[in-house]
Amino acid sequence: MQTLKLLFNQNGLRGSVTIPGDKSISHRSIMFGAIAKGKTTISNFLTGADCLSTISCFRKLGVEIEQTEEMITVHGQGWEGLVEPKEVLDAGNSGTTTRLMLGILAGLPFHSVLVGDESIGKRPMGRVVEPLRRMGASIRGREQGQYTPLAIDGTGLTSIHYELPVASAQVKSAIIFAGLQAQGTTIVKEPQQTRDHTEKMILQFGGSVVKIEDEILIKGKQTFNGTHVHVPGDISSAAFFLVAGAIVPKSEIILTNVGLNPTRTGIIEVLKQMGANIEIETMESIGEETGNIVIRTSELTGIEIGGDLIPKLIDEIPIIALMATQAEGVTIIKDAEELKVKETNRIDTVVGELRKLGAKIEATEDGMIIHGKSSLTGGNVSSFGDHRIGMMLSIAALICREEVELEDPECIAISYPTFFEHLKQLIQ
Ligand code: S3P
Repeated sequence: MQTLKLLFNQNGLRGSVTIPGDKSISHRSIMFGAIAKGKTTISNFLTGADCLSTISCFRKLGVEIEQTEEMITVHGQGWEGLVEPKEVLDAGNSGTTTRLMLGILAGLPFHSVLVGDESIGKRPMGRVVEPLRRMGASIRGREQGQYTPLAIDGTGLTSIHYELPVASAQVKSAIIFAGLQAQGTTIVKEPQQTRDHTEKMILQFGGSVVKIEDEILIKGKQTFNGTHVHVPGDISSAAFFLVAGAIVPKSEIILTNVGLNPTRTGIIEVLKQMGANIEIETMESIGEETGNIVIRTSELTGIEIGGDLIPKLIDEIPIIALMATQAEGVTIIKDAEELKVKETNRIDTVVGELRKLGAKIEATEDGMIIHGKSSLTGGNVSSFGDHRIGMMLSIAALICREEVELEDPECIAISYPTFFEHLKQLIQ
């Protein structure tokens, strides 16, 4: 395990960064490419470890996937082209791979086993297994199927009308993938709008999906045709440089090719509400919205963040917490219990590590309270193997008075393999 020494940055961050591909969309492009008939080409695919886990699972399911620097090509042969894997399917650190694969595998006529790393082994899978079982799925696993490893005996599925108990795009998408194979029309009701990349991609691959208010209707027995997918930049990766630009003195950063799907732009709403100096130029696009963003050093004020905004920024809360340490007044983050079941318990890791750097931050049952504006000191911190905690702490180091030693920075490659390269590009 590596440690990295990071130093205070005095001269600001300046320049432009092209944000790498969106993780959620990259996963889904492989999944739809694999179940579609014909060739799917994917440009700007994120080659982070999580998305490579999805590729590896589909290769084991018999799908030919070519990978060059510019393009991924998936040679799909329809649902029936997927064959019983001879080996265990390893989702690595990826919750999206594990949960969405469950929805796909539940309806395929063969046996498969899904495993993941230590963090995946602690994350709740019952929230997916339970509705899939109601559709007729045969899934067994640790603690009655609550945790990986999970063994799936694929079978014919029947549609359900299911109200999600938690706002989760992964659970929604798993049920959608099962519903696409089931007999009848599946209806999924969301308590709050979550990211809708799966729904968008169904249409892109020639399928059908209807949304009526908060219900999503998925016709069963659907087939898809291969297509071209251009993956926009990941706003969840851009978030680290958006906050860096706002809190590091003398900064001006231009971020290009950022995905601006409105189900993901909670971070932009927060930046605006906190008073950030931000400009957005949206681009003409079909399907997923994109744009360029300029962010400059800003005078920020604390706000309250909760309710329907939470699913739109759930992955950005660690970096928002850091931003709040540099805002005047109090920031309250609430309704975010889901943070406890991410790659780490992100309420504990954010509060614990930021405190070590001198932040005034306390944990609550469903979020955290941050008192700003505080001057951060420095010290020894750890990512705990959580990529977003690693990136947040690296940005924190830019405003710390003393050195920051970050344990386990390698995990950042899970979602942003070129993070440090891009950071160096901006440092003056
Ligand atoms: C994701 C959904 C979210 C998010 C994760 C990616 C997806 O998880 O935190 O990083 O691609 O559907 P939940 O569905 O658990 O909220």
